[in-house]
Amino acid sequence: MEPQRPFLVSLNELHDRGGWDAVFGRQAPLELEIGFGWDPFLIEAAARRPDTDFIGLEYDRQRVREFEARIGHAGLTNLRVCHGEALHAIPRLFGRGQLQRVYIHFPDPWPKKRHQKNRLLGPRFLKLLFYHLADGAELIAGTDSPEYRDFISASLFGLPEIVNPLAPHDWVDRLPGHPATKFEKIFRAQGKPVFYFLRTRGPAFAAAHDGEIAALCQRIPRRMDTMPHVVLSGPADLASLFQDFQPHQWREGNVVFKLTEAWRSARQPNLLLESLIVEDGHDEWFYLELSPKSKGLVVKVALVREVDRNELLFRFLAGVVRWLQQRQPGLAVARHNLAGFMD
Ligand SMILES: C[S@@+](CC[C@H](N)C(=O)[O-])C[C@H]1O[C@@H](n2cnc3c(N)ncnc32)[C@H](O)[C@@H]1O
Repeated sequence: MEPQRPFLVSLNELHDRGGWDAVFGRQAPLELEIGFGWDPFLIEAAARRPDTDFIGLEYDRQRVREFEARIGHAGLTNLRVCHGEALHAIPRLFGRGQLQRVYIHFPDPWPKKRHQKNRLLGPRFLKLLFYHLADGAELIAGTDSPEYRDFISASLFGLPEIVNPLAPHDWVDRLPGHPATKFEKIFRAQGKPVFYFLRTRGPAFAAAHDGEIAALCQRIPRRMDTMPHVVLSGPADLASLFQDFQPHQWREGNVVFKLTEAWRSARQPNLLLESLIVEDGHDEWFYLELSPKSKGLVVKVALVREVDRNELLFRFLAGVVRWLQQRQPGLAVARHNLAGFMD
């Protein structure tokens, strides 16, 4: 069993997109840092400004764990952490105009040409981000890389509805009152330049971009109240399923579902199926657990790792049941909670 993790908020706990008032137990301005790494910026900001609620979003698991421990040690009630990739997580975590400020300090610059598609601060992400910022709310972004600086600058140039309070400067070397982050201190000590952008959501942003982003948010797979499960009856043979396992995948629209590996569970004779749902470039990986039941088999999501509880998971389980029945035709569906997802 996972230990209690009071400072980590997963998508499953935020059943209502943007339900942060319930998480913090109050209504307060909300600020987000993306990619906090090992940097204490957000811990210090939360301690200094108790009237604001802060969220840190980071895709590195180890850094998230370390950050959780630090929030606990600091005894902060106005700071939470989310484990996830920004482009995927932001429209699932926040409502339109919900954020008062976003910080992105020293995002990975991806200097190699073939990796530049991974750069976060492109036009697609900026539009998504500013949709979730309130009118007049701020983005603060810093980089040490002249190439990334020019990339950010070009991305922003194409979005004139985002206002530049620093004009006529595009970026500055320092933002008054803004503390230096861990990376920034390292770069400055090495004599490297640092470039800070400051931008706000202007009044023309809504008319230019809100429609497009709202439509995108509507396509996000529906969140579900329960975890899917299926009970199959008939002669189940887990040993031969394990021995004969071959990776299997199928596509439904823009989503690819994969079974990549079979493992024997520590809870013998259960099997774990390593599973992957790939949607819009995002990989959600987890395990399904197959456990024998008197004259049958139970298929459910294993508790090994939390998975985004949405309708894709239900479609996935329905496909896995089809796959199981092809392998062991004696199995029949006895019970399930996949109504609307089973053929
Ligand atoms: C270069 S480090 C900067 C760390 C810190 N902000 C600082 O200034 O010291 C970039 C951090 O952003 C995280 N990161 C990069 N892209 C991300 C994304 N798309 N979503 C969430 N986190 C991301 C990385 O894991 C890493 O911890």
